[in-house]
Amino acid sequence: MNISVIGTGYVGLVTGTCLAETGNNVLCIDIDKTKVEKMQQGVVPIYEPHLDVLFERNIKANRLKFSTSLEEGLSHGDIIFLALPTPEDEDGSADLSYVLGAAKDIGKLIKNYKVIVDKSTVPVGTADLVKETIAKETTIDFDVVSNPEFLREGFAVDDFLKPERIVIGSSSDKATKLMEKLYKPFVRSGNPILIMDEKSAELTKYAANSFLATKITFMNEIANFCEKVGADVDKVRVGMGTDSRIGKRFLFPGIGYGGSCFPKDVKALHKSGKDNHYNFDILNAVIKVNDTQKKILIPRIESYFNNDLKGKTFAVWGLAFKPETDDIREAPALYVIEELLARGAKINVYDPEAMSNVERKFADKLNYIQNMYDVAKDVDALIICTEWSIFRTPDFKKLKNNMKHPVIFDGRNLYDVNDAKNEGFYYASIGRKTVH
Ligand code: UDX
Repeated sequence: MNISVIGTGYVGLVTGTCLAETGNNVLCIDIDKTKVEKMQQGVVPIYEPHLDVLFERNIKANRLKFSTSLEEGLSHGDIIFLALPTPEDEDGSADLSYVLGAAKDIGKLIKNYKVIVDKSTVPVGTADLVKETIAKETTIDFDVVSNPEFLREGFAVDDFLKPERIVIGSSSDKATKLMEKLYKPFVRSGNPILIMDEKSAELTKYAANSFLATKITFMNEIANFCEKVGADVDKVRVGMGTDSRIGKRFLFPGIGYGGSCFPKDVKALHKSGKDNHYNFDILNAVIKVNDTQKKILIPRIESYFNNDLKGKTFAVWGLAFKPETDDIREAPALYVIEELLARGAKINVYDPEAMSNVERKFADKLNYIQNMYDVAKDVDALIICTEWSIFRTPDFKKLKNNMKHPVIFDGRNLYDVNDAKNEGFYYASIGRKTVH
């Protein structure tokens, strides 16, 4: 099939590349000329494991092309994916100006039947708005379909190629058939393609992400409570998670969820509730608890240093909002860093992928060190904010020798508490006893 993808952000790029991988001819459109030129030369503009291999292969095979012309995109694709940003508005709602702007342009340029697919995460009712916006500009037949993505950063290629489910919101048989044909190669395992109305598809995405954010947040509160009563959250987590109704995944407590999806989607669903005279009390609590959780280490660090962090030096391991990405959007590490800077601390940082993004944000306020041991030289404490694999089995002796004081505040529970103690560290983590 001929496919066009409008928007080559993270979702658009993964979608376009993976659709080319199953033999479709894909044209990706972006208004950013420099980015398009780079992609035409085979440069992947984001860090996402395995994407580079697929990208190169499909460009070589002539199945993956790039352009800045929406007109070209519209004449090329039988199916047109909209993978445009829906940033958070000041009031927490999703800003639809990119999506509706593209819809208007599509209405002006459309010459024959097309299926327009909403891939972006959009509030309930957006498919109808897109339909209305296009229809105002043209009399040509078209369909609008909602097809939310469930891609995790760091695993996006795998998630796209082997999805647990595909959700398609469509009220047109013709469009549904085309979408089923497109996705069939990805669900050979027997995983379902779920066909539903557009609104249910749109809500499915928000409900799934908000549920997962709630699950994590619930566990963060249990962890905080464990500390109050002397229980061990690792034990509680396994004890709970082995109940198949609960499940083992997404029960890991830490310093809060971040990223480009959860924070934005929870707020957007909450706002969408308000707009429809429904108060999502539970989401209100999730937002509030997560805001506090991101800074949960700060009072502990302050109390360890007798409320005086001025002139103290800290090393931070991990800046990305989670491992296997360079994405720092809503990353808990940023909140930790800001709080420490405000208290007059000096900060050395290290992350395997996200250093340049953080440097762009904090410039000379931080020391950027390119090695996980050097970053800890002469520091008063080490703070772990992201659970990169490389941090899981460090050379504790080397680390201890480098640090001024062997003190670790671990926001991701990377080590066995007794191991850390035996290695000679003061070790504070989340929902477990602090040892020294
Ligand atoms: C998420 C969804 O998983 C994906 O389906 C959706 O389409 C986009 O949003 P992503 O933001 O890439 O994907 O990351 P994910 O792996 O889901 O983690 C989200 C956040 O939750 C991270 O900050 C992570 O550190 C945190 N998290 C996750 C926990 O704190 N504990 C857990 O047990 C799991």
